[in-house]
Amino acid sequence: MKEAIGVIPGLAVILVGDRKDSATYVRNKKKACESVGINSLEVHLPEDCTEQEVLNHISGFNEDSSVHGILVQLPLPSHMNEQNVLNAVRIEKDVDGFHPLNIGRLAMRGREPLFVPCTPKGCIELLHRHNFPIKGKRAVVIGRSNIVGMPAALLLQREDATVTVVHSRTCNPEEITRQADIIISAVGQPNMVRGSWIKPGAVIIDVGINPVEDPNSPRGYRLVGDVFYEEACKIASAVTPVPGGVGPMTIAMLLQNTLISAKRIHS
Ligand code: GUN
Repeated sequence: MKEAIGVIPGLAVILVGDRKDSATYVRNKKKACESVGINSLEVHLPEDCTEQEVLNHISGFNEDSSVHGILVQLPLPSHMNEQNVLNAVRIEKDVDGFHPLNIGRLAMRGREPLFVPCTPKGCIELLHRHNFPIKGKRAVVIGRSNIVGMPAALLLQREDATVTVVHSRTCNPEEITRQADIIISAVGQPNMVRGSWIKPGAVIIDVGINPVEDPNSPRGYRLVGDVFYEEACKIASAVTPVPGGVGPMTIAMLLQNTLISAKRIHS
């Protein structure tokens, strides 16, 4: 048992607008904080607020010594410049790992980011915890977003995988995915990765969370991943389910990053 240092880790979350998916993610993050004793503060701003208002809140949290992590839920409304907003978060409190300095360090050999983005970090943690080797393996990342695809590819490379990124302009992506020992899919296309895209025995991590109409569900829709789960299960050695696979890992990594931050700031 480590000695307690008498500090309660604090996470500040900024949510702008009324997107239902974002509100759900923020609610789940808050609940998770409460369950482990992390203090969570939330600022909810209206869709039509100004970028300056968001920047003012970030500035306040940057200076607040009870806050160890700052998270701006994405996407932001289209009238805001996401880069300006993410640049404003102090890198020592950038628990999402989206500040360009943290991403830049992630991309460079011999440099260490202060924080690694939560979803890709959770994907790698899943592979480690299940003892799937990464070193020397062929990994294919589907999608090149700043939040998941790009940092996932960088992390896999850091783990000595040979990495290919497949994206919306890739010709015949299935020919590439069929060679992969590890697939991480983060494109937001329901059931896109069919059984025929998968090499027998591959490990599949499905980051997609896509609502599809379902008249039999009380809400009128259900959530599916990017991967056709039933087909993938027959061919892959392991497939993460949606929901319940990567989602909880993202939250766990956010809590971990917040704890790392509190310890580092108070060390
Ligand atoms: N929107 C979708 N995923 C994420 C995430 O991991 N962090 C933030 N801040 N916004 C998101």
